Amino acid sequence: MSAEHLPFSGKVALITGAAGNIGLATAEHLAAMGADLALLDLDHEKLEQARTGLGGHDVRINIYTCDVMDGGQVSQTVDTVVRELGQIDFLFNNAGYQGAFAPVQDYPDDDFARVMNINVCGAFHVLRYVAQHMITRKFGRIVNTASMAGVQGPPNMAGYAASKFAIVGLTEVAAKDLAPHNIRVNAISPAFMGPGFMWDRQVELQARAGSQYYSTDPKEVAQQMISSVPMRRYGNIDEIPGVVAFLLGEDSSYMTGVNLPISGGI
Ligand SMILES: NC(=O)c1ccc[n+]([C@@H]2O[C@H](COP(=O)([O-])OP(=O)(O)OC[C@H]3O[C@@H](n4cnc5c(N)ncnc54)[C@H](O)[C@@H]3O)[C@@H](O)[C@H]2O)c1
Repeated sequence: MSAEHLPFSGKVALITGAAGNIGLATAEHLAAMGADLALLDLDHEKLEQARTGLGGHDVRINIYTCDVMDGGQVSQTVDTVVRELGQIDFLFNNAGYQGAFAPVQDYPDDDFARVMNINVCGAFHVLRYVAQHMITRKFGRIVNTASMAGVQGPPNMAGYAASKFAIVGLTEVAAKDLAPHNIRVNAISPAFMGPGFMWDRQVELQARAGSQYYSTDPKEVAQQMISSVPMRRYGNIDEIPGVVAFLLGEDSSYMTGVNLPISGGI
């Protein structure tokens, strides 16, 4: 189908963490809905691969190598996206880092700061600079990626859980500040999503970190995690983009400041 007849035709979506599992799956979904894409990530090579992989869609796809920790770089990149693609209607604010796995008393200071810098300061930089642009157009739809770890703190994940609780708070504040400008801000909180880098890494590192909550065998840890969610399986990465599209689109027109869990309690 030609892109101008699709639900998101004429919209431009900026996706951060676009070279990663969830970002890329969401890019594919939004492109299939007709949105032009600005793909932002730290990893230039993976961005190039992502653009090549998405080449079958009849939409504009630009890539931007940028470190979200650096507010100056983010500000410049947002300006470049607007110059090149004309506008930003949708933001999927999704770049993130899982951090170390260790009990809180042993959790490394430098990693805690790194997690906060990427997940909280990074998301804040992107949100504020994109919001400044959206305010000039009196239109914007923003989805921040939090996590079920930002709803209930899992063991050994002090940095990550603290950062994702912060994203839920940032979402609630931004929703109130930006509502007068016709900008809606919501969050998603995926639970255990796989297959993919974060799932494999967390199963491995939870087992290695050791705690009374998980086995030291990664295969058993995987089973323990899966047994703690209602669906008794990990969520597939492909089960996320439709939820993001719902929050970006007008089927959710009265929703702002909402954190949507993807799966029930852990
Ligand atoms: N996969 C899961 O199980 C899961 C569950 C809940 C929440 N999340 C969240 O979903 C988001 C995406 O995770 P994913 O599973 O796709 O992970 P991923 O590791 O595949 O992707 C993350 C991407 O973010 C990019 N990134 C990291 N630091 C950056 C920086 N400073 N500047 C720009 N880009 C940077 C990475 O290069 C990577 O491409 C993250 O915020 C993560 O915390 C993931």
